[in-house]
Amino acid sequence: MRVLVAGASGLIGTHLLRALRDRGDEAFGLPRFRTAPWTVEGAGAVVNLAGASVAGKRWTPAYKQEIEDSRVRTTRAVVEAIGAASHKPRVLVNASAVGYYGGRGDEVLEERARPGGDFLASVTQKWEAEAQRAPIRSVQIRTGVVLSAKGGALEKMVPPFKAFVGGPIGSGRQWFPWIHIADEVSAILWAIDRDLTGPINLVSPGMIGAPPAARPQETRISTLTGARGAPEDIAGMVRFLCGPQARYITGQAMHVNGGAYFGS
Ligand SMILES: NC(=O)c1ccc[n+]([C@@H]2O[C@H](COP(=O)([O-])OP(=O)(O)OC[C@H]3O[C@@H](n4cnc5c(N)ncnc54)[C@H](OP(=O)(O)O)[C@@H]3O)[C@@H](O)[C@H]2O)c1
Repeated sequence: MRVLVAGASGLIGTHLLRALRDRGDEAFGLPRFRTAPWTVEGAGAVVNLAGASVAGKRWTPAYKQEIEDSRVRTTRAVVEAIGAASHKPRVLVNASAVGYYGGRGDEVLEERARPGGDFLASVTQKWEAEAQRAPIRSVQIRTGVVLSAKGGALEKMVPPFKAFVGGPIGSGRQWFPWIHIADEVSAILWAIDRDLTGPINLVSPGMIGAPPAARPQETRISTLTGARGAPEDIAGMVRFLCGPQARYITGQAMHVNGGAYFGS
């Protein structure tokens, strides 16, 4: 199958292109929106991952506009290109984010939950609304923080801890919805191949649910990750800092839940 990917040069796109080619698909990155004309003629699937980074840059009014336009306008252009094609792709898999829900404390959130009311929640609603206008099957992947040994959030989080200057992010008590890059890519392939439509939450089920006071080791993790979840990806860092007891922290303390927790 021929698969076209917008935002292909980013963390998820790079891994996705490799995975598509590894399984025998023809995968191509689309040029950046407005830099060249787009056609999706003859493609079997389109994946749209484009969006200016929400991290690492100050949110001035101009940059907030860029965060929104790079998602909403790119998605609109993708949907228009699909509408214009005489041989349409079968599916559009469009990036979205758990930011859709806003900060919701300990509320357990599923796809039917109402959206939040902050800036990112508002952008995400507009982003998804554009994707849902596609005249083909359309899937919106509400993704948690993608963790990868190279690139993404973990790369930014680890160095301060290695230098012993890391600390909680925000209050240190917020849930930390995360997903490993390999699972993210597998889920996108799954969304391309299976007959599902609409928003899906892409987060790991491995979250720690007990109050930190009840489990001292988990409190330690809270400090390390700035959150109440401990991704396996930071196991090495936890072991480095906590010594032998780390195996309790990164192993048995995890529990699997079929749903997903978000919020702050
Ligand atoms: N990584 C995460 O933790 C995470 C979590 C939730 C949701 N998401 C969403 O998933 C998508 C992909 O994430 P990612 O981590 O792969 O992002 P990324 O590494 O920042 O890559 C995003 C890609 O979007 C394109 N892009 C950047 N600035 C743009 C702009 N101003 N206008 C239009 N396109 C622009 C670029 O691709 P080209 O140069 O190829 O155009 C860039 O490589 C994003 O929309 C992101 O919001 C990511």
